[in-house]
Amino acid sequence: MTPAELDQWSDHGLVVVENALSRWISPEAPAGLGEAMRYAVLDGGKRLRPLLVLAAREAVAHGTTDAALDEAALRAACAVELIHAYSLVHDDMPCMDNDVLRRGKPTVHVQFGEAQALLAGDALQALAFALLTPADTTIPDGVQARLCRLLAAAAGHAGMAGGQAIDLASVGRALTEDQLRHMHRLKTGALLEGSVMMGAACGAATQQVWIGLQRYGQALGLAFQVVDDILDVIADSATLGKTAGKDAANDKPTYVSLLGLEEAKSYAQSLLREALDALHSTGLTHTQTLAALAERVVNRNT
Ligand code: IPE
Ligand code: IPE
Ligand code: MG
Ligand code: MG
Ligand code: MG
Repeated sequence: MTPAELDQWSDHGLVVVENALSRWISPEAPAGLGEAMRYAVLDGGKRLRPLLVLAAREAVAHGTTDAALDEAALRAACAVELIHAYSLVHDDMPCMDNDVLRRGKPTVHVQFGEAQALLAGDALQALAFALLTPADTTIPDGVQARLCRLLAAAAGHAGMAGGQAIDLASVGRALTEDQLRHMHRLKTGALLEGSVMMGAACGAATQQVWIGLQRYGQALGLAFQVVDDILDVIADSATLGKTAGKDAANDKPTYVSLLGLEEAKSYAQSLLREALDALHSTGLTHTQTLAALAERVVNRNT
């Protein structure tokens, strides 16, 4: 798949996801909460996690469509983005990374105050699980339960939240490569891997497919945070839409601080090869979009 073909595919997916998110995040939540939630989610971000859900769903659908499973995948795509957006709102708060810029705008706590930012994150997390469990659709109960299980595991103590705890406990410390890899796998990798697996759960995946996609998601998820560490050093705030140089300023251990810039870059490339190899091992034929997304993750500049 060429970059232009990926753009065409993702432009379509992004419109669908954006419309669904806007429909599902009610502006009517009380006392300004709805406004803060919409501010945190809409109109910004690369939407990589939703795109991974949709691409993984396509890979296991083998070119077929199924209204209930397509709806499940769209809901999963939006749900994982809500969890991600909530994690960013909390990550930026003064008690965590203390950032004032996110997605090119003032952070939620700067715009709405700390208490509202905390609550917006809480409410986005709850909304994610509400989206996965609609009462009035034909999505089979078993699919709903699997999606909830995958997202809960990716977001919780064994995933994103646990990784964030390690991140905060590691300020000013030099981690070994094993410790750093573990932290990155949890804080960032888990939600990306979870996105792939949620897409796979919206279809019939054999054991071979499941294991291959999981390995793809793990390699891609780790690569994503390695590149995030690199961009924090080499990119500027205007391009990133968030404050560059924050990791060094906050004395965070990163792949750049551990390996140096050039070795971190080549590690990201080796993770890309691992992701592509894992895709190949699934034996699936509709994996071109997943492959192109992996290349984009590693070779991105924002
Ligand atoms: C930033 O994620 C936080 C990390 C997990 C590294 P993204 O780079 O995906 O942020 P958005 O969604 O595009 O703003
Ligand atoms: C964030 O990692 C991971 C999350 C779970 C939000 P970072 O703290 O490196 O993310 P940025 O650089 O602020 O986006
Ligand atoms: Mg952080
Ligand atoms: Mg941060
Ligand atoms: Mg970062």
